Amino acid sequence: GKVRAPTHIISTISDDRGEEPCYAGVPMSSIVEQGLGVGDVISLLWFKRSLPRYCTKFIEICIMLCADHGPCVSGAHNTIVTARAGKDLVSSLVSGLLTIGPRFGGAIDDAARYFKDAYDRGLTPYEFVESMKKKGIRVPGIGHRIKRGDNRDKRVELLQLFARTNVPSVKYMEYAVQVETYTLSKANNLVLNVDGAIGSLFLDLLAGSGMFTKQEIDEIVEIGYLNGLFVLARSIGLIGHTFDQKRLKQPLYRHPWEDVLYTK
Ligand code: ACO
Ligand code: LMR
Repeated sequence: GKVRAPTHIISTISDDRGEEPCYAGVPMSSIVEQGLGVGDVISLLWFKRSLPRYCTKFIEICIMLCADHGPCVSGAHNTIVTARAGKDLVSSLVSGLLTIGPRFGGAIDDAARYFKDAYDRGLTPYEFVESMKKKGIRVPGIGHRIKRGDNRDKRVELLQLFARTNVPSVKYMEYAVQVETYTLSKANNLVLNVDGAIGSLFLDLLAGSGMFTKQEIDEIVEIGYLNGLFVLARSIGLIGHTFDQKRLKQPLYRHPWEDVLYTK
């Protein structure tokens, strides 16, 4: 019979050995002929299945909304400084990407973890927020440097509008909104931010699509797939900032002395 040599790598998401590459078993020609988009490709390569249109549309909206947020945010700032130091595209891009984390853009997974745990355990927003405070943990997905209760984040509103009209159940999103109502009663900057909106809504997408077992949802949340959406999206903007600085022939950046408090 056949002798199977042991392999060093196992891979389950794509196969390039045939006449054309396949993503999760779907041939490239079928992806193109069906007019599928980047949301479908993400469904196949990340979630290993074709998701319903409202899910792929939601993924695409997240990518569009998170693609950029101006030159002043952590990621763009790093990319701009790196590009102005004469570094190449990849160096400038990763320099910006490296700022994505628990404070900036990378709070989506933790928001999903904490909102899911609190909702599934039946905690009221008060009990959830106060228990986080006792533990000394900032609520992931809540708070913003410039957005306020009276100057909400348009991206969050757009995601919520889409979800309320297209997603069958939005229980986690509504829970996040209740949490926001409570946090806003404490301080005006404690709005539901775009990370929190995506994290809670993705839970609704996973649970409501009927395409994932409970165990698979736990695994997605545990592994931390969702920050990948922000990383992917913001790469678009960071690449744009790199090209912009090069096009503008900007010189080496040096921060002004006046803007530093030199102290002992
Ligand atoms: N949960 C509870 N309390 C909070 C939170 C929060 N998420 N955020 C701020 N506060 C409170 C704290 O009491 C804080 O005091 P502390 O510094 O003693 O803990 C107080 O508000 C003052 O906060 P600010 O200094 O005004 O907040 P800052 O502007 O520095 O932080 C930030 C903004 C980093 C987004 C913060 O709100 C935070 O850590 N949020 C959680 C992480 C998160 O969701 N990040 C994603 C932001 S959206 C994006 O990057 C695309
Ligand atoms: C972003 O998307 O980069 C922002 O929400 C962060 C910011 O400080 O504006």
